[in-house]
Amino acid sequence: MKPSRREMMLATASGGLSLTPLFSAKDYRGQIQSSAVNSLLQSEKLTRDALMLKLLPEAKSHAHPPISNYFVGAVASGLSGSLYLGQNIEIPGNPLGLAVHAEQSAIANAYMCGEQGIDTVAVPGSPCGHCRQFLSEVSIDITMRILMGEKLEAKLSDLLPHAFGPKNLGFKQGSFPVRRQALVLSSPSSDALSLEALKAAEQAYAPYSRSPSGTAILTNTGRIFAGSYIENAAFNPSLPPLQAALAGYFAAGKSAGEIQRAVLAEGEKSTISQHRTTKSTLAAFAPNAYLERVTF
Ligand code: THU
Ligand code: ZN
Repeated sequence: MKPSRREMMLATASGGLSLTPLFSAKDYRGQIQSSAVNSLLQSEKLTRDALMLKLLPEAKSHAHPPISNYFVGAVASGLSGSLYLGQNIEIPGNPLGLAVHAEQSAIANAYMCGEQGIDTVAVPGSPCGHCRQFLSEVSIDITMRILMGEKLEAKLSDLLPHAFGPKNLGFKQGSFPVRRQALVLSSPSSDALSLEALKAAEQAYAPYSRSPSGTAILTNTGRIFAGSYIENAAFNPSLPPLQAALAGYFAAGKSAGEIQRAVLAEGEKSTISQHRTTKSTLAAFAPNAYLERVTF
């Protein structure tokens, strides 16, 4: 079969790597599992760093930047050996602060796959200050490597010296490894989407607000993408649960407008609520989709 224009473009941009079968798998959502990573490293005779850099064009091709038209991709390396692709997502009609940076998407995808930790993140240039802050919360000792090109890398602790992080607020752990806390819905439900949203809330990282939340979205082809709320000690870079779900949704090759339903699970009386901003964010992608809210 003749390769499509996008496949040709990606093959050229990624130095001839043929990755199409990986990305067209039915359940693909930004993760390349360690077994597939290892076969690629052997067949292509690449180092892990080189492979991560070669994956950037694929990651970038999923970006959704209708405001800036500036496409960014990022690749995160998990301690399990899996790699995670992410892209920037802009939300028309909403404050710029609700946008998701490519680095955040890659981390969110690793988080939603239950990664224990992240050792390296590859980016096309230098990560912005907001991303440095978000990434610094992944591990309390800020040991992550940032790859910015074939011969350019830095330790995150050098890119963000004298960081403000969880320790300043009296916490001893970062956002990874993903931890789970059992929650019970106020009204029992057997709705699969609501249960996915609850599961995402159960593994949210919300030490500061103590208000865990999760969102699950259903596409019109029946796929579900879940997202957990991931907080940051500096508050503003915190990633809302719908944004975490959208990281997987766009990585999977979905385009705006394929969402049918969404459910937000949050505490009935929690300190903060994601309800209004989730509704407003969802409206940017699916004006006709109704946001249900279930509580625990
Ligand atoms: N962006 C990233 O995704 N990562 C960075 O570190 C730099 C900025 C995105 C955010 C926004 O969608 C667009 O690029 C312009 O800032
Ligand atoms: Zn950034």
